[in-house]
Amino acid sequence: MSVDANRIDALQAEGRTFPPPPDFAAQANAQAGIYEKGFEEFWEEEGRRRVTWYKPFDKLYEWNPPYAKWYLGGQLNVCYNCVDRHVESGLGEKVAFYWEGEPDDERRAVTFADLQRDVVRFANGLKKLGVKKGTPVGIYMGMCMDLPVAMLACARLGAPFTVVFGGFSADALSGRLNDMGVEVLITQDEGWRKGNKVPLKAHSDAAMEMSPTVRTCLVSRRMGDPINMREGRDVYVDEVIQGLSDDPSSCPCEPMDSEDLLYLLYTSGTTAKPKGIVHTTGGYLVGVATTHYYIFDVKPESVYWCAADIGWVTGHSYILFAPLCNGVTGVIYEGVPNHPNEERWWEIIERYKVDILYTAPTTIRTHMKWGPQYAQKHDLSSLRLLGTVGEPINPEAWIWYREHVGLGRTPVVDTWWQTETGMILITPLPGLTTLKPGSATKPFPTVDAAVYDERGHEVPPGQGGYLVVRKPWPAMLRGIYNDPDRYQETYWSRYKDVYFVGDGARKDADGDFWLMGRIDDVMNISAHRISTIEVESALVDHPAVAEAAVCGRSDPQTGQAIVAYVTLKATHQPSVELLSVLRDHVSMKIGKIAAPANIVFTPELPKTRSGKIMRRLLRDVAEHRTLGDTTTLADPTVVEELRSRAVTEEGKEQ
Ligand code: PRX
Repeated sequence: MSVDANRIDALQAEGRTFPPPPDFAAQANAQAGIYEKGFEEFWEEEGRRRVTWYKPFDKLYEWNPPYAKWYLGGQLNVCYNCVDRHVESGLGEKVAFYWEGEPDDERRAVTFADLQRDVVRFANGLKKLGVKKGTPVGIYMGMCMDLPVAMLACARLGAPFTVVFGGFSADALSGRLNDMGVEVLITQDEGWRKGNKVPLKAHSDAAMEMSPTVRTCLVSRRMGDPINMREGRDVYVDEVIQGLSDDPSSCPCEPMDSEDLLYLLYTSGTTAKPKGIVHTTGGYLVGVATTHYYIFDVKPESVYWCAADIGWVTGHSYILFAPLCNGVTGVIYEGVPNHPNEERWWEIIERYKVDILYTAPTTIRTHMKWGPQYAQKHDLSSLRLLGTVGEPINPEAWIWYREHVGLGRTPVVDTWWQTETGMILITPLPGLTTLKPGSATKPFPTVDAAVYDERGHEVPPGQGGYLVVRKPWPAMLRGIYNDPDRYQETYWSRYKDVYFVGDGARKDADGDFWLMGRIDDVMNISAHRISTIEVESALVDHPAVAEAAVCGRSDPQTGQAIVAYVTLKATHQPSVELLSVLRDHVSMKIGKIAAPANIVFTPELPKTRSGKIMRRLLRDVAEHRTLGDTTTLADPTVVEELRSRAVTEEGKEQ
C-alpha cells in the first residue's frame, strides 16, 4: 500500500485562494473563536443547543478505545427532534420538504405538520404489523416521500432500520437483510429512473426468497401498476394505514437512550461482505445537526438542497436528520439531473429559490460536460453557498461550480467524511476559511485529524501519508454490526487508539488538508465506494469465468471507472456478447453502479510467485502508466500481453 505520488504533485500545482466574502462573513453562523473552544465545552454546549432531551445527559463522553459513547444517561427521540418539536413550537405550517417527482408535473410542499401526520400514521401502520422498539426493519426504496416517512416512523418507534440504496440488486439487498436479521421490509411497487420504471418490488421478491427472516413486506404504491403481492406476507401501505390515527398522541415517540441503535448502513470494505456500520442516537443527531448548522450556514428562511440519494450516508445525515433537526426547509428530487432535459436542476433551484446546494464532484463534472448554457437560462441568484462531497474534487470542477452555478460569488465548501464518520470532519467554515480549490481545508472544530507515515509519526507539511483521527467525535461509528474483530482490524489496528481512515492525504504549510483518495482496494465510482473484491466475486460467480481481477482507472465523469480482467474457463471463448453478459451479471449481483466500464479477457492474470494478484500493475495497465516494479511477477510477459489487450478492448468499448 502506498500513497500515489503523481496525485500529490498534481494538487500541489493549485495556488488559487478565495477568502470569505466580507458580507457572508459578517452574517455567518460560525464566527471567529469557534476553533478556540475546548473540546468538552464545545460539545456540551452543542448537545444542549441542537437537541431536545427527554432526560438530560449527565456525562459528555466515554472513550474506551476503540469504543466511544456520547451523551451518556441522556434520553431523546430522533423523530421528536426532527418533526414533533417543530410543530409544537409553532412551525407546523413551515415547509419541511419541497418534493419533486421525476415526472415534471408531480410536486408537493410537505409542511412539518403534514410530515408529522404522515409519520404518525405510518408508524401506527408499522405497529399494527408488530413493529416495536428493537424490531429490525429494512427499507429499499427510491426517493419517494414515503422513504423519509418510513425512516422517521422507525425512529419514532425505536425500531432500528437499514436503508438499502434503490440501485442495488436483489442479491445485494438480501445480503444486508440477512446480516441485520430484518423482519419487516418496506419497499415500493416501482421507482422512476430516467423515465424508466425500476421494479423495486420484484427485486424485493427475489431478495426475500433468500432472506427467510423477513416475515412482512410493506409496499408503498408509487406507480399503481399491478405487481405480484404474496398473500399473508405483502401488504400495501395505503391499505394498512387506512383508518389509523394521525394524531401524535396515538403514537408517542419512544424515549431512547443516547447509545441505542438508530440505524445500520452497509458500506464496502476490502472483503466481499459489506460492513454494517453502526450509528446510534444522541451523539449522531448532535453531530450531524451541529456540522450542518455551521458548515452550511443554514438560516430559518433557507431552502437547502442536498442532491444526494437518501440511500447513502450523505442522504441520511444531510437530507434527512440534520436539516429536519435544525428545522430547515429542504428539497427532495426523485430523479436524474437530465430528465426531461439538462435544465431540470436549475429549474428546481429557480422555482424554490434554493440558497444552499450540496452535491458530488461527479455530478458537477456531468454538468460541465453538458455545458454552462443550461444553468445560464435560469435565475440562480438565490444561491449563497455551494458544497461538495464524496471524492476529491478537481480544481477545475470546483472553479466551474463556483463560476457557473455560484455566479462567481458563493463560497464552495468541500466536505470530507465517510459512512463511518457519520458527520463531516474536514471542511471549510464558509464565513471564516480561505478556500483553495481541491482542498477540504481544515478539521471541523475539535476534530483532531493528522497525516501519519507508516510508523505512526506525523509527516511534515507537503508530504503525503495516511489520514487519521486521534480523538473521538459524537457521530462516529460505534462498531461493525456483529463483527467486533473486523471493526478492530479495519480501523484500529494500524495505529494504536487512533482511527485509521483508509484515505491518503497531505497537509500543506497552512495546515490545509488535501485528500488523495482510497489507499485500499476500494474504488470510488460516482462518489460511491465499491470494493474490488465484491465485483470480482460477482464475475467469478458467472459459469464462464475462471478468475477475475478488478481495479479502478480514472474517469473524467465518474471519478473512477471499473476495469475488469477476466480469465475464462477453457469451455468458453471470449466474445463481444460475453462482455455484455458479464456486465449484466455484475449489475444483477450488485447493481448497475458496479458494472465494469471495460472488460479485458486474458488467459493469465499477473501474479506474484506466491499467487497473489498484482493489482498495482493492473492499475498501471488500466491507466496506461509506465509499469511499476515487476520483479516479483511469476511471469512478466503476462503484463505486456495485457497491455496490448487493454488497448483493443477499450477501443471496442468506445
Ligand atoms: O475516500 C474518501 C471519499 O469517500 C470516502 C467515503 O465514502 P462513503 O463512506 O461512501 O461516504 C461518502 C459520503 C460521505 C472517503 O473515505 N471522500 C468523501 N468526501 C471526500 C472524499 N474524498 C475527498 N474529498 C472529499 N470531500
